[in-house]
Amino acid sequence: MTDRRQPPLTEPFEIEGVRIPNRVLLAPLAGIGNWFVRMQARRYGAGMAVSEMVSSHGLHYGNEKTTSELMRIHPEEHPVSYQLFGQDPEIMRSAAAIAAESGPDLIDINMGCPVPKVMKTGAGAELLADPELALELAGAAREGSGLPVTVKIRSGIAPGDRSGFDLAIRLVEEAGVAAIAFHPRVARKGHSGSPDYELARELSRSIPVPMIISGGLSDAEAARRAYEESGADAVMIARGSFGYPWIFAELTGTEVPEADRQAIMDELLWVMDRAEEHLGTERAGRYLRKFYPWYLDRVDVPKGVKDELCQSAGLDRAREVVVSIRDRGAIPV
Ligand SMILES: Cc1cc2nc3c(=O)[nH]c(=O)nc-3n(C[C@H](O)[C@H](O)[C@H](O)COP(=O)(O)O)c2cc1C
Repeated sequence: MTDRRQPPLTEPFEIEGVRIPNRVLLAPLAGIGNWFVRMQARRYGAGMAVSEMVSSHGLHYGNEKTTSELMRIHPEEHPVSYQLFGQDPEIMRSAAAIAAESGPDLIDINMGCPVPKVMKTGAGAELLADPELALELAGAAREGSGLPVTVKIRSGIAPGDRSGFDLAIRLVEEAGVAAIAFHPRVARKGHSGSPDYELARELSRSIPVPMIISGGLSDAEAARRAYEESGADAVMIARGSFGYPWIFAELTGTEVPEADRQAIMDELLWVMDRAEEHLGTERAGRYLRKFYPWYLDRVDVPKGVKDELCQSAGLDRAREVVVSIRDRGAIPV
């Protein structure tokens, strides 16, 4: 098969009738990709954001509060995709139905997570070892949700293994999966090493639905290169967006304030306000500790300040410090 013409990243595309306004997406990020992180990506131009992975067991057995917190979708963030993980088709069917009630446009299934805690249960990348179960799960998610189902998948489990590549093709052909987000690093490699964009190119030529490339998209230049080398239909930005939603603006031409000290600190304050709104002051104070270094590393701040924010500061003190860095480049004592 010959390569498809590759449109610019700013051109819309469709996943089974769901129109995505451009080809730059926010990847699913566990413990991070809630509604306000997804909204942040959208504000800077991302065409769509995928939720953090949500346990199908958690949705099926969970209480209403957990579900409504996890499944909170901002009215302005559509289109949005919700990622579920699990290994039991009946529970997946039920969880997908519960997830669909919150109104996502797509459901994604995680077949790439390399974390032992997840793989031990038979979910995530472990599904590569049981293709029949993987096909059943995708079918169950579709029936349960009534929505198009996509799958995010690794290329294999151990070096040299292409079981994820083969499964991706079967998921499209036999389970009607509407798009594949392909992370061409084997699960054993975690998030290190060079992704195999050549293998991704082979996949994009082999399936009649969109192939979205993930892995190694650390900045705008790397994302453009991965897009071209893999022949993908879209790119999925993950770690490259940490503290730097500007990456979406760079790739989509969206007009946003320049990423100087003031704008970076304003953006961090926006995240802090949303986290407080979502989790309350105390939980937000703890939750935000992983966010601070992403932003502070982009401005010139003494290490002691970073340590204080990340290890001990409550939300009010953290806000005081961030405002002071923004306005004076200095830290109040
Ligand atoms: C902190 C973190 C959390 C992640 N959580 C998920 C997840 O919930 N679901 C998923 O499919 N991938 C997850 N990933 C993988 C990313 O979506 C992405 O595929 C990976 O980071 C490779 O892209 P990158 O090299 O551009 O960062 C996660 C990665 C990181 C670093």
